[in-house]
Amino acid sequence: MKKNLLSIALLCSGVMLSQPALANAFENGEDAVTYRQAAFQMIRFNLVDINEMFRGNVPYDVERVQRRAEALATLTQLPWEAFTIPGADHASGKVKAALWQNLDDFNQRGEKFAADAAALHEAAQGGERRAIQGAFREFANNCKACHDNYRAD
Ligand code: HEC
Repeated sequence: MKKNLLSIALLCSGVMLSQPALANAFENGEDAVTYRQAAFQMIRFNLVDINEMFRGNVPYDVERVQRRAEALATLTQLPWEAFTIPGADHASGKVKAALWQNLDDFNQRGEKFAADAAALHEAAQGGERRAIQGAFREFANNCKACHDNYRAD
């Protein structure tokens, strides 16, 4: 047991020594762009899957909706931090200049988006299809409204 702990400690220090300059997503503008774009891609996949079920293109499965909604409740909290780190505004994201001039408005939209995702998650837990569909529509309205203002083509 003691030996195991020791080798784990050695392993960890080895990793740190061999990658001393490893930046995390919040110390580097380009990494911040990758991080938030990845979050948006995950959001899109989860949204599209629910949408396809409501449109009848794949069989409706309430447990699958619940899984997607749970993921969305978490994913919608992620991108915003990556817009605020130093250097994020000079990295090559597909962002309109208006975003950096209206960060408060942008962040409020992000908070509403996450709140709507939480409401969708709650409705999904309730299992009532009409309520889920209403919450889903509300949630999905956020995308275009924000993109029109702040996402570059
Ligand atoms: C509060 C604003 C906001 C909301 C709400 C929002 N987005 Fe975005 N989205 C952005 C911005 C800004 C970008 C550009 C990010 C970048 O390139 O740095 C973006 C980029 C994207 C991208 C492209 C990512 C890439 O790989 O370049 C996708 C896909 C996307 N959003 C999907 C969605 C979907 C689907 C929704 C709704 C369910 C949504 N977004 C809601 C602001 C928003």
